[in-house]
Amino acid sequence: MFDTNLLSGKTILVTGGGTGLGRAMALRFAELGARLAVLGRRPEPLNEVVQSIEAQGGEAIAVTADVRDAARVNAAVDDVLSRFGTINVLVNNAAGNFLALTETLSPNAFNAVVGIVLNGTFHCTAAVGKHLIAQGIGGCVLNIVATYAWTGAAYVVPSVCAKAGVLAMTRSLAVEWGRYRIRLNAIAPGPFPTEGAWSRLMLPGMEEEGKRRNPTGRFGEPAELANLAAYLVSDAASYINGECITMDGGEWLMGQSFNLLTQLPPDQFRALSEALRPKKSA
Ligand code: HXC
Repeated sequence: MFDTNLLSGKTILVTGGGTGLGRAMALRFAELGARLAVLGRRPEPLNEVVQSIEAQGGEAIAVTADVRDAARVNAAVDDVLSRFGTINVLVNNAAGNFLALTETLSPNAFNAVVGIVLNGTFHCTAAVGKHLIAQGIGGCVLNIVATYAWTGAAYVVPSVCAKAGVLAMTRSLAVEWGRYRIRLNAIAPGPFPTEGAWSRLMLPGMEEEGKRRNPTGRFGEPAELANLAAYLVSDAASYINGECITMDGGEWLMGQSFNLLTQLPPDQFRALSEALRPKKSA
Protein backbone atom coordinates (compact mmCIF):
# COMPACT_ATOMS: atom_id res chain seq x y z
CA MET A 1 0.00 0.00 0.00
CA PHE A 2 2.88 2.42 0.81
CA ASP A 3 6.49 2.72 -0.36
CA THR A 4 8.58 0.84 2.17
CA ASN A 5 10.61 4.03 2.75
CA LEU A 6 7.52 6.16 3.54
CA LEU A 7 8.83 6.92 7.04
CA SER A 8 12.58 6.49 6.57
CA GLY A 9 14.63 9.17 8.29
CA LYS A 10 11.97 9.69 10.96
CA THR A 11 12.30 8.90 14.64
CA ILE A 12 8.90 8.14 16.14
CA LEU A 13 7.99 7.92 19.82
CA VAL A 14 4.86 5.86 20.54
CA THR A 15 3.42 5.92 24.06
CA GLY A 16 1.71 2.73 25.16
CA GLY A 17 3.83 1.16 22.43
CA GLY A 18 4.21 -2.26 24.04
CA THR A 19 0.71 -3.62 23.47
CA GLY A 20 -2.47 -3.27 21.45
CA LEU A 21 -2.82 -0.46 18.94
CA GLY A 22 0.46 1.15 20.06
CA ARG A 23 2.34 -2.06 19.30
CA ALA A 24 0.62 -2.39 15.90
CA MET A 25 1.54 1.20 14.99
CA ALA A 26 5.15 0.83 16.15
CA LEU A 27 5.67 -2.35 14.08
CA ARG A 28 4.06 -0.80 11.01
CA PHE A 29 6.09 2.43 11.29
CA ALA A 30 9.28 0.34 11.56
CA GLU A 31 8.31 -1.67 8.45
CA LEU A 32 8.03 1.66 6.64
CA GLY A 33 11.55 2.69 7.62
CA ALA A 34 11.15 4.68 10.86
CA ARG A 35 13.32 4.38 13.95
CA LEU A 36 11.12 3.65 16.95
CA ALA A 37 11.08 4.52 20.62
CA VAL A 38 8.31 2.70 22.49
CA LEU A 39 7.32 4.09 25.87
CA GLY A 40 5.29 2.40 28.58
CA ARG A 41 5.16 1.35 32.22
CA ARG A 42 6.17 -2.31 31.84
CA PRO A 43 9.52 -3.21 30.25
CA GLU A 44 8.54 -6.76 29.15
CA PRO A 45 6.06 -5.87 26.36
CA LEU A 46 8.23 -2.93 25.27
CA ASN A 47 11.27 -5.21 24.95
CA GLU A 48 9.25 -7.71 22.92
CA VAL A 49 8.34 -4.93 20.44
CA VAL A 50 11.97 -3.80 20.24
CA GLN A 51 13.08 -7.38 19.55
CA SER A 52 10.43 -7.82 16.85
CA ILE A 53 11.56 -4.61 15.14
CA GLU A 54 15.23 -5.57 15.38
CA ALA A 55 14.43 -9.03 13.99
CA GLN A 56 13.06 -7.27 10.89
CA GLY A 57 16.32 -5.29 10.60
CA GLY A 58 14.88 -2.11 12.12
CA GLU A 59 16.08 0.13 14.94
CA ALA A 60 14.15 0.60 18.19
CA ILE A 61 14.54 1.33 21.87
CA ALA A 62 12.28 0.89 24.90
CA VAL A 63 11.85 3.66 27.46
CA THR A 64 9.93 3.03 30.67
CA ALA A 65 7.82 5.79 32.18
CA ASP A 66 4.34 6.34 33.53
CA VAL A 67 3.00 9.20 31.41
CA ARG A 68 1.32 10.64 34.54
CA ASP A 69 4.78 11.51 35.87
CA ALA A 70 6.07 14.62 34.02
CA ALA A 71 9.62 14.25 35.37
CA ARG A 72 9.84 10.62 34.17
CA VAL A 73 8.43 11.61 30.78
CA ASN A 74 11.07 14.36 30.43
CA ALA A 75 13.80 11.86 31.38
CA ALA A 76 12.45 9.32 28.86
CA VAL A 77 12.42 11.93 26.08
CA ASP A 78 16.03 12.82 27.00
CA ASP A 79 16.93 9.10 26.79
CA VAL A 80 15.49 8.90 23.26
CA LEU A 81 17.32 12.07 22.23
CA SER A 82 20.64 10.84 23.60
CA ARG A 83 20.23 7.55 21.69
CA PHE A 84 18.80 8.84 18.38
CA GLY A 85 19.66 12.56 18.47
CA THR A 86 16.18 13.56 17.35
CA ILE A 87 12.46 12.90 17.60
CA ASN A 88 10.31 13.84 14.61
CA VAL A 89 6.95 12.34 15.52
CA LEU A 90 5.08 11.67 18.76
CA VAL A 91 2.10 9.33 18.92
CA ASN A 92 0.08 9.75 22.12
CA ASN A 93 -1.56 6.36 22.39
CA ALA A 94 -1.22 5.43 26.09
CA ALA A 95 -4.66 5.14 27.67
CA GLY A 96 -6.44 3.95 30.77
CA ASN A 97 -10.11 3.08 31.08
CA PHE A 98 -12.66 0.97 32.93
CA LEU A 99 -16.44 0.66 33.20
CA ALA A 100 -18.01 2.21 36.30
CA LEU A 101 -21.19 3.86 37.53
CA THR A 102 -20.09 7.48 37.58
CA GLU A 103 -21.69 8.19 40.97
CA THR A 104 -19.48 5.49 42.53
CA LEU A 105 -16.15 6.85 41.21
CA SER A 106 -13.65 8.04 43.78
CA PRO A 107 -11.65 11.19 42.96
CA ASN A 108 -8.62 8.93 42.66
CA ALA A 109 -10.38 6.70 40.13
CA PHE A 110 -11.32 9.73 37.99
CA ASN A 111 -7.77 11.06 38.29
CA ALA A 112 -6.22 7.70 37.35
CA VAL A 113 -7.82 7.78 33.89
CA VAL A 114 -7.63 11.54 33.31
CA GLY A 115 -4.03 11.47 34.56
CA ILE A 116 -3.02 8.92 31.94
CA VAL A 117 -5.07 10.16 29.00
CA LEU A 118 -5.20 13.95 29.36
CA ASN A 119 -2.29 14.86 31.65
CA GLY A 120 -0.13 12.14 30.11
CA THR A 121 -0.78 13.46 26.61
CA PHE A 122 0.09 16.96 27.81
CA HIS A 123 3.32 15.81 29.49
CA CYS A 124 4.52 13.98 26.37
CA THR A 125 3.37 16.68 23.96
CA ALA A 126 5.05 19.44 25.97
CA ALA A 127 8.33 17.50 26.31
CA VAL A 128 8.51 16.53 22.63
CA GLY A 129 7.03 19.86 21.49
CA LYS A 130 9.84 21.83 23.17
CA HIS A 131 12.36 19.67 21.32
CA LEU A 132 10.53 20.03 17.99
CA ILE A 133 10.37 23.81 18.35
CA ALA A 134 14.08 24.04 19.25
CA GLN A 135 15.03 21.65 16.43
CA GLY A 136 13.29 23.94 13.94
CA ILE A 137 12.55 21.37 11.24
CA GLY A 138 8.87 20.79 11.94
CA GLY A 139 7.36 17.54 13.10
CA CYS A 140 4.09 16.03 14.06
CA VAL A 141 1.97 14.75 16.92
CA LEU A 142 -0.77 12.18 16.47
CA ASN A 143 -3.28 11.68 19.29
CA ILE A 144 -5.47 8.61 19.63
CA VAL A 145 -8.89 9.70 20.91
CA ALA A 146 -12.30 7.96 20.60
CA THR A 147 -15.59 8.77 18.89
CA TYR A 148 -17.13 9.42 22.31
CA ALA A 149 -14.91 12.52 22.59
CA TRP A 150 -17.83 14.31 20.88
CA THR A 151 -20.82 12.02 21.51
CA GLY A 152 -20.09 11.30 25.19
CA ALA A 153 -20.69 7.77 26.52
CA ALA A 154 -22.21 6.26 29.64
CA TYR A 155 -20.06 4.43 32.23
CA VAL A 156 -16.70 5.65 30.86
CA VAL A 157 -16.99 9.29 31.95
CA PRO A 158 -13.35 9.85 33.01
CA SER A 159 -12.16 8.58 29.61
CA VAL A 160 -14.80 10.64 27.78
CA CYS A 161 -13.72 13.83 29.57
CA ALA A 162 -10.04 13.11 28.96
CA LYS A 163 -10.44 12.23 25.26
CA ALA A 164 -12.56 15.37 24.70
CA GLY A 165 -9.72 17.35 26.28
CA VAL A 166 -7.14 15.69 24.07
CA LEU A 167 -9.20 16.52 20.98
CA ALA A 168 -9.38 20.15 22.10
CA MET A 169 -5.62 20.13 22.75
CA THR A 170 -5.02 18.72 19.26
CA ARG A 171 -6.96 21.53 17.59
CA SER A 172 -5.53 24.25 19.81
CA LEU A 173 -1.89 23.30 19.27
CA ALA A 174 -2.47 22.72 15.55
CA VAL A 175 -2.97 26.49 15.42
CA GLU A 176 -0.46 27.54 18.09
CA TRP A 177 2.40 25.44 16.70
CA GLY A 178 1.60 25.85 13.01
CA ARG A 179 4.29 28.56 12.82
CA TYR A 180 6.86 25.89 13.74
CA ARG A 181 5.57 23.50 11.04
CA ILE A 182 4.42 21.11 13.74
CA ARG A 183 1.22 19.34 12.72
CA LEU A 184 -1.20 17.88 15.26
CA ASN A 185 -3.88 15.42 14.24
CA ALA A 186 -6.01 12.77 15.87
CA ILE A 187 -7.56 9.43 15.04
CA ALA A 188 -10.85 8.50 16.69
CA PRO A 189 -11.05 4.72 16.60
CA GLY A 190 -14.26 2.85 17.25
CA PRO A 191 -14.04 -0.68 18.64
CA PHE A 192 -10.76 -2.47 17.95
CA PRO A 193 -10.37 -5.72 19.86
CA THR A 194 -7.21 -5.36 21.93
CA GLU A 195 -6.49 -7.15 25.20
CA GLY A 196 -6.22 -3.86 27.13
CA ALA A 197 -9.59 -2.52 26.01
CA TRP A 198 -11.54 -5.79 25.78
CA SER A 199 -10.52 -7.06 29.23
CA ARG A 200 -11.74 -3.83 30.85
CA LEU A 201 -14.70 -2.80 28.71
CA MET A 202 -16.34 -5.80 27.06
CA LEU A 203 -19.25 -7.28 29.04
CA PRO A 204 -20.81 -10.61 27.98
CA GLY A 205 -23.04 -10.15 24.93
CA MET A 206 -21.54 -6.79 23.97
CA GLU A 207 -19.30 -8.26 21.32
CA GLU A 208 -22.06 -9.69 19.10
CA GLU A 209 -24.25 -6.62 19.68
CA GLY A 210 -21.30 -4.35 18.82
CA LYS A 211 -20.81 -6.07 15.46
CA ARG A 212 -24.56 -6.11 14.75
CA ARG A 213 -24.86 -2.35 15.18
CA ASN A 214 -21.80 -1.56 13.08
CA PRO A 215 -22.62 -0.79 9.41
CA THR A 216 -19.70 -2.99 8.34
CA GLY A 217 -20.77 -5.84 10.65
CA ARG A 218 -17.32 -6.15 12.19
CA PHE A 219 -14.70 -4.55 14.42
CA GLY A 220 -11.54 -2.85 13.19
CA GLU A 221 -8.20 -4.56 12.63
CA PRO A 222 -5.16 -2.96 14.31
CA ALA A 223 -3.37 -3.06 10.92
CA GLU A 224 -6.07 -0.81 9.45
CA LEU A 225 -5.49 1.80 12.14
CA ALA A 226 -1.71 1.47 11.80
CA ASN A 227 -1.92 2.26 8.07
CA LEU A 228 -3.96 5.42 8.70
CA ALA A 229 -1.52 6.47 11.42
CA ALA A 230 1.45 5.87 9.09
CA TYR A 231 -0.14 8.09 6.45
CA LEU A 232 -0.97 10.89 8.91
CA VAL A 233 2.56 11.06 10.37
CA SER A 234 4.20 10.86 6.94
CA ASP A 235 5.13 13.78 4.71
CA ALA A 236 2.36 12.61 2.35
CA ALA A 237 -0.06 14.24 4.84
CA SER A 238 1.94 17.46 5.17
CA TYR A 239 -1.09 19.76 4.74
CA ILE A 240 -3.36 17.89 7.17
CA ASN A 241 -3.34 19.78 10.46
CA GLY A 242 -5.85 19.95 13.32
CA GLU A 243 -7.92 17.14 11.84
CA CYS A 244 -9.53 14.19 13.59
CA ILE A 245 -10.21 11.18 11.40
CA THR A 246 -12.80 8.69 12.56
CA MET A 247 -12.07 5.03 11.94
CA ASP A 248 -15.03 3.05 13.24
CA GLY A 249 -16.75 1.49 10.21
CA GLY A 250 -19.42 4.20 10.54
CA GLU A 251 -20.47 3.03 14.02
CA TRP A 252 -20.99 6.45 15.60
CA LEU A 253 -23.49 7.43 12.90
CA MET A 254 -25.82 4.57 13.81
CA GLY A 255 -27.66 6.48 16.56
CA GLN A 256 -30.11 8.10 14.10
CA SER A 257 -33.43 6.25 14.53
CA PHE A 258 -34.07 5.26 10.87
CA ASN A 259 -30.73 3.47 10.89
CA LEU A 260 -32.37 0.78 13.06
CA LEU A 261 -34.14 -0.33 9.88
CA THR A 262 -30.83 -1.62 8.48
CA GLN A 263 -31.36 -4.63 10.79
CA LEU A 264 -34.19 -5.76 8.47
CA PRO A 265 -33.45 -7.92 5.41
CA PRO A 266 -34.13 -5.83 2.25
CA ASP A 267 -37.24 -7.89 1.30
CA GLN A 268 -38.78 -7.34 4.72
CA PHE A 269 -37.95 -3.63 4.58
CA ARG A 270 -39.58 -3.36 1.13
CA ALA A 271 -42.74 -5.13 2.31
CA LEU A 272 -43.04 -2.97 5.43
CA SER A 273 -42.35 0.31 3.63
CA GLU A 274 -44.84 -0.64 0.88
CA ALA A 275 -47.48 -1.24 3.58
CA LEU A 276 -46.99 2.35 4.78
CA ARG A 277 -47.35 3.81 1.29
CA PRO A 278 -50.71 5.54 0.71
CA LYS A 279 -52.80 3.64 -1.83
CA LYS A 280 -53.67 5.57 -5.00
CA SER A 281 -57.43 5.95 -5.35
CA ALA A 282 -58.79 4.32 -8.55
C1 HXC B 1 -13.98 1.66 39.77
C2 HXC B 1 -11.67 1.64 39.74
C3 HXC B 1 -11.66 0.57 38.80
C4 HXC B 1 -12.93 0.07 38.37
C5 HXC B 1 -9.61 1.11 39.26
N1 HXC B 1 -10.38 1.93 39.99
N2 HXC B 1 -10.36 0.29 38.50
N3 HXC B 1 -12.81 2.17 40.22
N4 HXC B 1 -14.04 0.64 38.87
N5 HXC B 1 -13.02 -0.92 37.48
C6 HXC B 1 -9.94 2.94 40.92
C7 HXC B 1 -9.16 2.33 42.06
O1 HXC B 1 -10.02 1.82 43.07
C8 HXC B 1 -8.37 3.55 42.55
O2 HXC B 1 -9.15 4.44 43.30
C9 HXC B 1 -8.05 4.28 41.24
O3 HXC B 1 -9.03 3.83 40.29
C10 HXC B 1 -6.68 3.94 40.73
O4 HXC B 1 -6.61 2.53 40.57
P1 HXC B 1 -5.22 1.75 40.49
O5 HXC B 1 -5.50 0.35 40.11
O6 HXC B 1 -4.41 2.03 41.70
O7 HXC B 1 -4.50 2.56 39.31
P2 HXC B 1 -3.44 2.08 38.30
O8 HXC B 1 -2.77 0.83 38.76
O9 HXC B 1 -2.61 3.25 38.02
O10 HXC B 1 -4.31 1.67 37.01
C11 HXC B 1 -4.86 2.65 36.17
C12 HXC B 1 -6.15 2.14 35.53
C13 HXC B 1 -5.92 0.75 34.87
C14 HXC B 1 -6.62 3.16 34.53
C15 HXC B 1 -7.19 1.97 36.65
O11 HXC B 1 -7.13 0.28 34.29
C16 HXC B 1 -4.84 0.80 33.82
O12 HXC B 1 -3.66 0.77 34.15
N6 HXC B 1 -5.19 0.83 32.54
C17 HXC B 1 -4.20 0.91 31.46
C18 HXC B 1 -4.62 0.17 30.23
C19 HXC B 1 -6.03 0.41 29.78
O13 HXC B 1 -6.92 0.77 30.56
N7 HXC B 1 -6.27 0.21 28.50
C20 HXC B 1 -7.61 0.31 27.97
C21 HXC B 1 -7.73 1.53 27.21
S1 HXC B 1 -9.11 1.31 26.19
P3 HXC B 1 -9.13 4.44 44.94
O14 HXC B 1 -10.04 5.56 45.31
O15 HXC B 1 -9.63 3.10 45.36
O16 HXC B 1 -7.69 4.69 45.31
C22 HXC B 1 -9.61 2.73 25.63
C23 HXC B 1 -10.44 2.59 24.41
C24 HXC B 1 -11.69 3.33 24.50
O17 HXC B 1 -9.32 3.76 26.13
C25 HXC B 1 -12.46 3.32 23.18
C26 HXC B 1 -13.45 2.19 23.06
C27 HXC B 1 -14.35 2.33 21.88
